[in-house]
Amino acid sequence: MSSTPVLPPAPKVYIRTFGCQMNDYDSGKMRAQLARDGWQSTDDPDEADLVLLNTCSIREKAVEKMHSALGEFRRQKREGRPLTLGVTGCVAQLEGDALLERYHNVDLVLGPDGVPHVRRLVAEARSGQRVLDTDFLDLETYPFVTDLDPDAAKKVGAFVTIQKGCDNRCTYCIVPTTRGDEASRPSAEILDEVRRLVETAGVQEITLIGQNVNSYGLKVPHEKNFAELLYAVAEVPGVRRIRYTTSHPRDMGDDVVQAYQDLPQLTSHLHLPVQSGNNKVLRRMKRFYTRERFLDIVERLRQARPDLVLTTDFIVGFPGETEAQFLDTMSLLDEVGFVSSFSFKYSPRPGTPALRLKEGHDDAVSGERLTRLQKRQRELSLAWTRSHEGQVVEVLIEGLSRHDEGVICGRTSANLMVNFPGSASEVGSWAKVRVTRGFTHTARGERVAAPVEIRARRA
Ligand code: SAH
Ligand code: SF4
Ligand code: F3S
Repeated sequence: MSSTPVLPPAPKVYIRTFGCQMNDYDSGKMRAQLARDGWQSTDDPDEADLVLLNTCSIREKAVEKMHSALGEFRRQKREGRPLTLGVTGCVAQLEGDALLERYHNVDLVLGPDGVPHVRRLVAEARSGQRVLDTDFLDLETYPFVTDLDPDAAKKVGAFVTIQKGCDNRCTYCIVPTTRGDEASRPSAEILDEVRRLVETAGVQEITLIGQNVNSYGLKVPHEKNFAELLYAVAEVPGVRRIRYTTSHPRDMGDDVVQAYQDLPQLTSHLHLPVQSGNNKVLRRMKRFYTRERFLDIVERLRQARPDLVLTTDFIVGFPGETEAQFLDTMSLLDEVGFVSSFSFKYSPRPGTPALRLKEGHDDAVSGERLTRLQKRQRELSLAWTRSHEGQVVEVLIEGLSRHDEGVICGRTSANLMVNFPGSASEVGSWAKVRVTRGFTHTARGERVAAPVEIRARRA
């Protein structure tokens, strides 16, 4: 009698992602490539044979988070757990071999440009070598990874990278150091990825990502620019919503503003980081726009799309920021009426030009300013969600509520998340919902009797 050979179980990889959309996307691309070698992705770190911490160094706190996560896995290795341990992403790029020297049980350190080579690098680490790859790749032939994230079919939306790196040099920012100069991905490749996400994974919402998407294609002869890319993505059948992040106000051209009039798929929400409302601070940050220019862009966008809502990023306590300059940021928050924002205390980053400014920064003062800003932001956010009470909105159903059973959540084009009764089978469909109550970040609602469009999902 012949017996069926017992195959060894597939090795498992656990990737913890810190930081921004770029890291999220890179984690998916690493999972996709490792799957080719039989790696199964897991959400449970305890059952993993390979743990990768995909790290962020944008602020000191983000780096601390990664060190404490790393400490836990290093302890487990010391206690004899057989585990390959890797650090990827921006801290890996920044600290490089210092990480290997400092931590003897870290096996693998690879920067963001190591992502296309992750299969080889992991295989080397698994064969007992200690691996370091922090070389930047050639911009002209940059090998953007085309494999789809195996988890893409689980979601209604997907990120698609359109560029890597950043050519700006905002004086506080570590990203140009960790990600290198900007390279635009060929538009044919972007459009192909969008098509495959729609056709094979049932994705309906595409978010184009990069650090400065508005400068897409400008360095490449005969390539589309960002506005042209938006029009081309909108033509892909099945793309119901298009978002993008992050956008730099300096490069927001009239053609992108026009797209808000022409393209219904482009959502009524734009994340446009302003950082500060004071011209002197903006100049010292090297953002290359003024408060007035920012407000002008907002006005033109709202003429093109009257229901557009804006969110932003703020840094408070930049070196030398005075109370009066901070108050300009507070007044800009009200003047634009941002419905939400990410706000941060300035965090000095190694090697950045802001370190050379002679005025220092005071963490306690920054903390107090941040509290004021966030308090006012919460009031504005709540006023916005409450303004929907009684209104009927259309949402794309994204998933189950994490807190309440029998409740699903859907997002409006303007990015309002509404929770309402429903079931898992409805994920990926569209619903008309009456908002019954607005909270600071989300709203609650009830379905109205209008027909619901159920779209079959190809999982
Ligand atoms: N490319 C994007 C920003 C990416 S970083 C843009 O230019 O808008 C995300 C946010 O982190 C920034 O918008 C900024 O608000 C914040 N940030 C970046 N460096 C920082 C630092 N050194 N200290 C505090 N916040 C910082
Ligand atoms: Fe950093 Fe400025 Fe580039 Fe954004 S645009 S990633 S803030 S350097
Ligand atoms: Fe962080 Fe790197 Fe993104 S520093 S914000 S993960 S580009």
